Amino acid sequence: MPTFARIRVRALAKINLDLRILNKRPDGYHELRTIFQTVSLADTLEIEFERGRTRIEIKSDLNISGNIIEKAAHRALEATGRTGRVGFVLQKRIPLGGGLGGGSSNAAAVLLGLPALVGKTLPLPKLIELASELGSDVPFFLLGGAALGLGRGTELYPLPEPPARPALIVCPEIHSSTAEAYAALGRKESPSPPAGIVNNFQQLVWASARGLETGGPAFENDFEEVVFRRHPQLKSIQRKLLRQGAAEARMSGSGSSIFGIFEDRALRDRAAEAFRSSQENSPRLRVYPVTMVSRSRYHALWRRQLAAFGKWTLWPPRDQYAK
Ligand code: C5P
Repeated sequence: MPTFARIRVRALAKINLDLRILNKRPDGYHELRTIFQTVSLADTLEIEFERGRTRIEIKSDLNISGNIIEKAAHRALEATGRTGRVGFVLQKRIPLGGGLGGGSSNAAAVLLGLPALVGKTLPLPKLIELASELGSDVPFFLLGGAALGLGRGTELYPLPEPPARPALIVCPEIHSSTAEAYAALGRKESPSPPAGIVNNFQQLVWASARGLETGGPAFENDFEEVVFRRHPQLKSIQRKLLRQGAAEARMSGSGSSIFGIFEDRALRDRAAEAFRSSQENSPRLRVYPVTMVSRSRYHALWRRQLAAFGKWTLWPPRDQYAK
């Protein structure tokens, strides 16, 4: 076991290409259907480990309290049976409260990176269990690429990869609370999901497996109705992305980021310029040109990031079907 080790990893953001909220479940969570997609916007997380008494230190350019990184570090250490000082330096680029899964991605990065640092590997079922306890979006970042999320969003299945299209993420300084957005939806508690929404979503996924080439926007996000009512500026951003030539423009997660998907980079870059130069909606609009990151690229990134740990570099994490 090493006495000191350090690793630097990139933790990518996600968008929800599609998001349907079904019924409220007896456990208080909502049953959902979503299509997750990793994108190239990323935080950078440095993790160092020194054997000794357990203590977690986080340095960041942002003031983040009750932090999911700290929780993830405790859980990961416990699971490996090691103790020590864990120091983090977080460079935050993914906006907070933007529906881009920044915190969740950071947590998954800890679950993947810290065991490697302490010289232990955690099998996939354990990682999935820890990730689900940390948050509904965390397990997706163990998989990456394009994935179907069911249940709370923690049950995941890889989807055929769509072409790695350029996208533009526009994020105003609005912090949209996930719990409030769910409450505003007012979904009824019921033991089973409404058949109509499931049927509709199923058709979309079957179409996307054929290679989704729609004549216009096909994706949906059930949160848009309630969140746009509260923040009309978001609707204007969506309209502007479509005017600028986006094939699709949707809110991600429970907001407040709006993403547009473009056929080519030139069109996407022109749209970015249009947002930057006008700033008509808000002087504090952040604009991120990104590319979708496929599962194979996501896995290659993690394989590279863990490569320094030699024999501990077992990526993807061990499952019961690995040969
Ligand atoms: O799991 P996570 O911590 O991300 O969830 C934050 C909040 O969002 C939960 O406390 C719950 O109110 C709501 N939520 C939900 N149904 C889901 C996911 C989240 O109601 N599937």
